[in-house]
Amino acid sequence: MTKQLIVAVVGATGAVGSKLMEKLIERKFPIKHIKFLASARSAGKAIEFNGQTYTIEEATPESFEGVNIALFSAGGSVSEKLAPEAAKRGAIVIDNTSHFRMDPEVPLVVPEVNRHVLKNIPKGIIANPNCSTIQMVAALQPIREKFGLTKVVVSTYQAVSGSGVAAIDELREQSTQWEAGKNVEANVLPVKSDAKHYPIARNVIPQIDKFTNNGFTYEEMKMINETKKIMEAPELSVAATCVRVPVVSGHSESVYIELEQEATVQDIFATLQDAPGIVLQDDITQQVYPMPLFAENEEPIFVGRIRQDLDNKKGFHLWIVADNLLKGAALNSIQIAEAMLEDNLL
Ligand code: A2P
Repeated sequence: MTKQLIVAVVGATGAVGSKLMEKLIERKFPIKHIKFLASARSAGKAIEFNGQTYTIEEATPESFEGVNIALFSAGGSVSEKLAPEAAKRGAIVIDNTSHFRMDPEVPLVVPEVNRHVLKNIPKGIIANPNCSTIQMVAALQPIREKFGLTKVVVSTYQAVSGSGVAAIDELREQSTQWEAGKNVEANVLPVKSDAKHYPIARNVIPQIDKFTNNGFTYEEMKMINETKKIMEAPELSVAATCVRVPVVSGHSESVYIELEQEATVQDIFATLQDAPGIVLQDDITQQVYPMPLFAENEEPIFVGRIRQDLDNKKGFHLWIVADNLLKGAALNSIQIAEAMLEDNLL
């Protein structure tokens, strides 16, 4: 019989938190007991889960007594403070924030790519990668295994839900304000804590997260560094441009890759056809290609528009789309926990 676990969801009232709850139910995760944690603002409020009403508690170090698995999605500062407290009390933490991702003692996991690293969790903390990184590495890994991979250049088209509930609300409000001929107010994007904001309705913002001192944003550096860490490929050349678009859910990516060996479009098709978690949507004669609107609430990563580069036989262009709150966040977290259960690591 499957082991039944005591689970804590940290950030239960957030965009990823609500998807975590949905997926725990849908995928019949073996739960003995579950608790929902958020900030003091939400403590005492009711939350529905699987037909039962629970009371949200404030997340404190003591909240994690007796917890087997703690799913964190409440921002980096909450993870920084509370993930080690949860781990100290014996919980395995699966953290959705970027806080621990590049820590060499914290495995950074996409189960389809590197589930073997789950055997060693020195700090009791596992990091869930950046949403845009997850969908890209899961699609590229099977290609890499067959043909080798030397270079990746990606431009993203990222949905506002990646910035949380406040950004989703703002896109809706700005669209309504625009329709009503009112002034459009911007308070959240590109970075909530910054003084300067731009509207996202009827716009595209080439900035996600703050700028680092090399001209790339932190989001772009997450894609670059995390790809190398997950693929265990420090020598891989990776460049990223991350862009916010007025889409509620579903990140899209235009990806250019260079392989070690020559391949054909048919080779890439055949490789992705059998790849776990990937669905090919590529038939230009029928205008079939992935789009975020149709990826919303779907578990797979959709790949299409596969083309060989016209100047480089080892170069290929792909279009990769996935629901950023599911495979990019909640679903991947739960798949990590499921992989640990299957491998008797929990
Ligand atoms: P709360 O609703 O109580 O503020 P999102 O990413 O959609 O913005 O959601 C962020 C999540 O993180 C929410 O569930 C939010 O809870 C939670 N959160 C924010 N600050 C804290 C905190 N200090 N302690 C615990 N949870 C927090």
